[in-house]
Amino acid sequence: MSSAGPRGIQAVPQELRDRESWLDPFDWYRRMRESAPVRYDEERHSWDVFRYADVKRVLDDDETFSVDPREANDFVEPEEPGEGLMLDTMLFEDPPRHGELRGVVDDWFRPRRLADREPRFREIAGGLLEDAVGADGRMDVVADLASPFPVTVIAELLGVPPTDRDRFKTWSDALVEAAGAEESADAYADRQRETQVEMAQYFLEMIEARREEPRDDLLSVIVTAESEAGGRLSREEALGTCMLLLVAGNITTTNLIANAVRCFVEADADLFDELRGDERALASAVEEVLRYRSPVQAMGRVATEDVTLGGETVEAGDRVIAWLGSANRDERQFESAGEFRPDRSPNQHLGFGYGTHYCLGAPLARLEAEVGLSELLDRVERVELAEDRLQPTRSSFIYGVESLPIRYDERGSDPTRD
Ligand code: HEM
Repeated sequence: MSSAGPRGIQAVPQELRDRESWLDPFDWYRRMRESAPVRYDEERHSWDVFRYADVKRVLDDDETFSVDPREANDFVEPEEPGEGLMLDTMLFEDPPRHGELRGVVDDWFRPRRLADREPRFREIAGGLLEDAVGADGRMDVVADLASPFPVTVIAELLGVPPTDRDRFKTWSDALVEAAGAEESADAYADRQRETQVEMAQYFLEMIEARREEPRDDLLSVIVTAESEAGGRLSREEALGTCMLLLVAGNITTTNLIANAVRCFVEADADLFDELRGDERALASAVEEVLRYRSPVQAMGRVATEDVTLGGETVEAGDRVIAWLGSANRDERQFESAGEFRPDRSPNQHLGFGYGTHYCLGAPLARLEAEVGLSELLDRVERVELAEDRLQPTRSSFIYGVESLPIRYDERGSDPTRD
């Protein structure tokens, strides 16, 4: 994730730069699906792809559409050590190396493996909500639950001391943040570089500590893969993997949880009650949130050869942005695509991507969302938004809000109610 954003997503297209349109880009997507489903944006030097079938094809064909930004005509090599570490991860690596990098950690993210940890996750979410939910009937879903919960979970899986979690959070937010309105491209690039170098330094120390004394955590798994004979991972790859796991699963899951509450509040007033205590209904509603308000709106690729897409010729070395958030609203794929239907089935959304790079952390994100939301539903009812001027997340590819204040009745606080 460089100055150009992940995979070289240069910047938000001009049409989505103001608050209103990044809060609700769906109308613009619809128009683009109709009038310019595959278009070249001169300003960003990049193709944009809006329809479901085309987005899926781009993600599925990793020979023609590489994840490696170094394939791009305009790729600039990082200048300082530490800065380009994310490039040494599975996210930016094509097969066959991709599979080897992913294979080091994938076992830890399997649903069955994670199931053992569910009680602990429930304890973490429950603890946060014990502090947040009270008689005043107000909380901020982002600050009180959706933001601290995933960072605490991933810090625990990695094996990072609880005292360092604030630093963790600052780094992972900084790396997915877009440039500030007043900030120059150079100042933004410097800030991103600094964050990467700090993180690299931190993880180097953690890696040394685990080498001396391995434990039952992901850091130890990564260190073992690095120090094995023949070395499955280089030092840079080990560092990159630590950083990727920290960054990839935080703000994404934060926004899944917050977007879910936003969708539920905006939907039927009884939805909270219908989902409470019904695990299957809640799981299906979470899938619909991933479709309807996808936390990751866009992913980048680079064409490795000239290719025709939607009648346009994309040339070798061109950057391509696949708009997952638009694909997920495509009426060609989903019936009543513009409606939030918590029981939608089938629901083949692309919210976690598709194909080789399909989100490694999807089972973890789903579990965290289900645990976090069910703990919340157990404690609150008659939920309403307490703020009508929401601020979108400051990022060029993550979709959600900076804070989500709600008003609610605390469950069980009224003895006359059953
Ligand atoms: C709601 C939460 C999440 C969303 C919406 C999400 C979304 C995505 C998407 C769209 C991709 C595909 C990238 C591409 O095709 O270029 C991806 C990849 C990835 N995600 Fe997630 N993610 C979430 C949570 C997590 C979590 C919790 C973790 C782990 C801690 C994680 C780790 C990863 C990794 C390592 C990859 C790269 C996989 C690969 O290249 O093979 N994600 N994610």
